[in-house]
Amino acid sequence: MEKIRGEYRMLVERAKEARERAYAPYSRFPVGAALLCEDGTIYTGCNVENASYGLTCCAERTAIFKAVSEGHTKFRAISVVLDSTDPSAPCGACRQVIFEFGPDIDVVMANVGSESVDVVKITDLIPRAFGPSSL
Ligand code: THU
Repeated sequence: MEKIRGEYRMLVERAKEARERAYAPYSRFPVGAALLCEDGTIYTGCNVENASYGLTCCAERTAIFKAVSEGHTKFRAISVVLDSTDPSAPCGACRQVIFEFGPDIDVVMANVGSESVDVVKITDLIPRAFGPSSL
């Protein structure tokens, strides 16, 4: 945790708080996310599950959809916090949705105890992605 910059530390804290609000009665696997916009605004998200399991929305996409629906489309970083021994990367669907908004977005991955944090570029998680410039 010492290695990451202050604003990313804050982002991890906000994702942890959002994780507390997860609606995950089926998986019992709460996840939190926090999205840092270019202007410094932060949107948080949690996973929102459904009795029809496939309709679940991951924490990352919740945060992104909240931000976009409030008029933000320029993002610097997104943090994701879950309870695992090692930080875990977003699912494939979320990687695609993050990439939509730019190849330079940092993905800040932490576990709930914050013992370790990984920061990678979205392009490292989804190489040769299909995106807006492919059209
Ligand atoms: N989940 C997320 O919210 N984000 C991820 O990066 C991985 C998975 C959610 C989906 C589901 O509600 C639960 O975690 C178990 O897969």
